[in-house]
Amino acid sequence: MTNVEILSLGPFYQPAFALMERDFTVHKLWQANDRDALMAEVRSRIRGVQAMHTNKADAELMDALPKLEIIACFGVGTDGVDLEAARQRGVIVTNTPEVLNECVADLAMGLTVATMRRISLGDRFVRAGSWLKGALPFAHKVGGKTMGILGYGRIGKAIAKRAEAFGMHIVYHGRKQQAGVAHKYYASLTEMARDCDVLMAICPGGAATRHIVNAEVLKALGPEGTLINVARGSVVDEQALVKALADGSLGAAGLDVFESEPQVPGALFGMDQVVLQPHVASATHETRMAMGVLTADNLRAHFSGRPVLTPVG
Ligand code: NAP
Ligand code: 8YV
Repeated sequence: MTNVEILSLGPFYQPAFALMERDFTVHKLWQANDRDALMAEVRSRIRGVQAMHTNKADAELMDALPKLEIIACFGVGTDGVDLEAARQRGVIVTNTPEVLNECVADLAMGLTVATMRRISLGDRFVRAGSWLKGALPFAHKVGGKTMGILGYGRIGKAIAKRAEAFGMHIVYHGRKQQAGVAHKYYASLTEMARDCDVLMAICPGGAATRHIVNAEVLKALGPEGTLINVARGSVVDEQALVKALADGSLGAAGLDVFESEPQVPGALFGMDQVVLQPHVASATHETRMAMGVLTADNLRAHFSGRPVLTPVG
């Protein structure tokens, strides 16, 4: 298959990337000094694109690649890909679902506990020698609280399992009620926010969910409420979030994702009620390897004439 030429829009976990390079001729757009020159040289031969969630794979890119057959996304989120443009052009899109559920759920639960129990603050407190002068103020108990999950899908369910093990009650919101799910369903996100202590965002990004966690939802979550966002920065109105945290109308937040990564609003840096992570929910050796292997396996399946393993849509 080394005669099949792939355009890589962004690098992923190196040991897995090497497996893709072993089997295909991979052109690394992200490494090119002159991207236009590389595109001009290879575009008529490219049959596959490999993309990260930060890469844009839009109609313009697809039209520039006349032999394009498949876009293989490293990651489960496909918000950088114009899925409708791909469908219209008969381009297959794949992603890497399931293999990252456990690690993303671990970080989501870790952020929940770290935020409610103020673990990062405690660490800073000890390092700064503040313990010598007094005790850290009390935090909030996790068990017995209600977690409202925005996006009760594959990862949402893995988070629920963990939260239940911590003694939390689970409720959820999505576009529709799910058959066979015993947890309470809320058709209204605002109403769910009003009734829960922790709002866990783990739905897809993109236009449909842009800023669905808005000022009204944050106000409903309230001064004792905690927002955890492991979905996409675009899901939360970041300006409204900063304002709500600053004026105390929202209690606390644990954030793995931001609207303009890697830019993070500076106002959050001085807030002790906030725990920040640099979009690392799936970033373990094991999971990034599994995601990379699946990305390459999808390309391999397609170019061997077999159905892809994890098509989108
Ligand atoms: P999934 O299985 O497809 O679940 C998505 C859930 O979101 C579904 O329950 C869906 O329910 C709900 N949903 C979709 N559109 C919605 C809308 N407009 N309003 C409300 N709910 C909506 O996806 P997944 O594998 O769990 O992944 C979820 C997302 O997590 C990804 O798309 C990605 O953005 C994010 N993620 C982040 C990281 C990270 O590193 N932080 C890692 C992995 C994934 P309904 O269809 O009933 O609405
Ligand atoms: C990764 C993710 O950080 O799968 C997703 O949608 O957001 C994460 O797993 C990303 O895909 C790699 O950059």
